[in-house]
Amino acid sequence: MSVSISGFSKLSKSEKMDWLTKTYFSNSKKALRVLRQYWNQDDKLQQLHDEFIENTISNFYLPFGVAPNFLINGKIHTIPMAIEESSVVAAASNAAKFWLKRGGFKTQVLSTTKIGQVHFMYHGSRKTLQKFFDVVKPQLLQDAKPITKNMEQRGGGITSIELRDKTADIAGYYQLHAAFETLDAMGANFINSCLEQFAKTFQKEAQHFSDFSEAEKNIQIVMSILSNYVPDCLVRAEVSCKVEDLNDNKNISGEEFAAKFIQAVNIAEVEPYRAVTHNKGIMNGIDAVVLATGNDFRAIEAGVHAFASKEGRYSSLSHAKVEDGVFTFWMEIPLALGTVGGLTGLHPLVKLALKLLQQPTAKELMQIVAVAGLAQNFAALRSLTTTGIQEGHMKMHLMNILNQFEATNEEKQLLTAHFKTHTVSHNAVGDAIKKLRVMSNGND
Ligand code: MEV
Repeated sequence: MSVSISGFSKLSKSEKMDWLTKTYFSNSKKALRVLRQYWNQDDKLQQLHDEFIENTISNFYLPFGVAPNFLINGKIHTIPMAIEESSVVAAASNAAKFWLKRGGFKTQVLSTTKIGQVHFMYHGSRKTLQKFFDVVKPQLLQDAKPITKNMEQRGGGITSIELRDKTADIAGYYQLHAAFETLDAMGANFINSCLEQFAKTFQKEAQHFSDFSEAEKNIQIVMSILSNYVPDCLVRAEVSCKVEDLNDNKNISGEEFAAKFIQAVNIAEVEPYRAVTHNKGIMNGIDAVVLATGNDFRAIEAGVHAFASKEGRYSSLSHAKVEDGVFTFWMEIPLALGTVGGLTGLHPLVKLALKLLQQPTAKELMQIVAVAGLAQNFAALRSLTTTGIQEGHMKMHLMNILNQFEATNEEKQLLTAHFKTHTVSHNAVGDAIKKLRVMSNGND
């Protein structure tokens, strides 16, 4: 079916739902019921969610879980995670517990620089453009003062602006490439506002620069936007312990475990097919905390994967080694996060998540998020190189399968006990539930 509508955004919420359900669903009443089922009872709270985006007709829930026992630089954290994948929070909690007894996670913020660019076209003398840039640079900073004043008072602001010649890639293409310190804000609005002001000043001042020919004055701004590639907004997370201490009742010695674990990491370092899945496991942890704390997971994803390709080939974000009998597993990852602005002061669960983390600064949140990623990667590699991933994964997935079969609470209890000692698969659960129902019908 292909149906278009004009003026949809102008309709009221109930008109939108009416149109949608009548147009696309044979049972429009049922569709309406499902949409309404996810509305919040509290009208004010619902209105808050309605106003986050355009055309809101319902809410989309994700489970909000917590992983306790994360020892980070000597301090214990309970980490909030918003995610639908059954095994992620359990894996995070397991890894946290494993490292709790082995010194915990060590983290360090290496840098906090964010980048934005004004992309423009100029067809003239490169030397004259450079001269113009040198002259106009103080004016660029001056005109941005109304935007930067508050940030500067808190110790942040614009840290540099350069003119970059990109004409080797595209004829006439140049950039104003600017670096920013945005402190506890993710900084997207701040950076974009500064960039748009730079663009205005740059274009306006070019009109009065006497060294330019008339044609050269015609600078065309293509766009002004922050970059989500933040290789200099970097955090390091690490765990380490004596190799013999890696032994953890998995029928495998510490030495053997370390060797297999390092092999698995080495494979992800050289093999992009594996690296993507390996890094996806890291992002399971990262995205869940990023989402729970109201940050932009798309920006984080884009920046992290670009960073994973920085050597020209997509590779593992994490690394591992044994040196002098000590196993070390670490990761450096770019994370432009905020703990003020955006959703952080608006969404009640985000506010709660940040409270749970003791109102972290952006730097503290970078460290917590990186730890969640490293822990997730450790848990995945530990399973993959010992028991295999499916054992734990399917155990956690059992509840989803039981829900698909609409199991009652009593059935769930019986079958969870049964599958403690049996292999979980969709078929096995289906057979077991059938048997149980036949037996209980027989008893009736
Ligand atoms: C599944 O969501 C993540 C894993 O595939 C990660 C990995 O293979 O390392 C288990």
